[in-house]
Amino acid sequence: MIAETAQLKSKVSAPAWDAVRADFPALHQTVNGHPLIYFDNAATSQKPLPVIEALDRYYRQDNANVHRGIHELSNRATTGYEGARERVANFIHAAGSQEVIFTRGTTESINLVANTWGVANLKPGDRILLTEMEHHSNLVPWQLVAAKTGAKLVYLPVTGDEGLLNLRQLDAVLTPGVKLFAFTHISNTLGTVNPVAELVERARKVGAVTLVDAAQSAGHLPVDVRALGCDFLAFSGHKICGPTGTGVLWGRQELLDAMPPWQGGGDMISSVDFFESHWNTLPHKFEAGTPHIAGAIGLAAAMDYLDAVGRDRIWRHDQELGAYAYESMARLKGIRLFGPKVGRAGLVSFLLDDVHAHDVVTVADQFGVALRGGHHCNQPLMRKLGVASTARASFYFYNTRAEVDRFVEVLREIQRFFGV
Ligand code: ALA
Repeated sequence: MIAETAQLKSKVSAPAWDAVRADFPALHQTVNGHPLIYFDNAATSQKPLPVIEALDRYYRQDNANVHRGIHELSNRATTGYEGARERVANFIHAAGSQEVIFTRGTTESINLVANTWGVANLKPGDRILLTEMEHHSNLVPWQLVAAKTGAKLVYLPVTGDEGLLNLRQLDAVLTPGVKLFAFTHISNTLGTVNPVAELVERARKVGAVTLVDAAQSAGHLPVDVRALGCDFLAFSGHKICGPTGTGVLWGRQELLDAMPPWQGGGDMISSVDFFESHWNTLPHKFEAGTPHIAGAIGLAAAMDYLDAVGRDRIWRHDQELGAYAYESMARLKGIRLFGPKVGRAGLVSFLLDDVHAHDVVTVADQFGVALRGGHHCNQPLMRKLGVASTARASFYFYNTRAEVDRFVEVLREIQRFFGV
């Protein structure tokens, strides 16, 4: 098994990819009589043994509530949970762990900002700038907050099938009336990698607050919130080898301090009376109720794992596999590929002739290949592209070129099967 902690990283060379694959039990099975090829990583990643074992160890030995008890197990749980927060802060280069709020995932992180910062700061006529490639989780919360506050939604267009942000139109939409610019780092449908630091800098010039949806980037490449310069960053644990139901909202301390709480309950208060309460300090002000303690500990184990593998190395692997898949798939007759021709992340959306994406995914599954088909929670983008859905293959560092080769063979089988 790969080095248990990232502390060993500097002393040992990065593990071989075969050793990495061996750490993921779920990858080693047959599905419908074929070795599983798991290409649905943009939906959720598989989990390595150190993460599974961290969860198991926590529940076997340390399970107790946090911040409440003074007994040994509660101390252990609190130390594990708050240690996980430190680990997250270090993973994204936050100024301090008080800026790290644990949530259930990217969706909850964005809803938190919409319902606190958004409701407190937006007023009629203010603009919220989004892009046409946003996932529903970075779109619907802003529609809701726009309806509550009277703010208006504005969109930065996408160029078309090539799926780039049309930066020539940025000045036209990023006007001084824009109070918030929320955009994705990597598109879950197109594989586009957006120039975050540049977009943040442009937003700062008009005084807009920025939120980065890092659901598809954190854990795939090194993310440094201070270098990016953004105000908020949201991501999920389950897409980066961590447990489901875990996520992070990072925010700059001065913004978080000024924001009202969202959910009320235990832990988020400093004192409660019958008619009024006072709020706890950061980060607890935003974490009402018993949190996902095991999940946070598992997420920290995932971060140790990713850093032992090396995030620069993971990113190179993702990009190489994405480019290799794109080029191999482009040789198929009748395929329509979405997203950038070069510089893409490790995922490819496509349509095969006029075969419905769900049929592609269903037949691929018969060959043991796990894909996703549908609108990918990007219905407005689908409409813009003039399609109802696409099929999508998404990769992670445990995937191989041999799997891509087999996947392309399976696509040929599917074309034969449908006679196209
Ligand atoms: N957002 C996840 C995906 O794109 C679920 O598949």
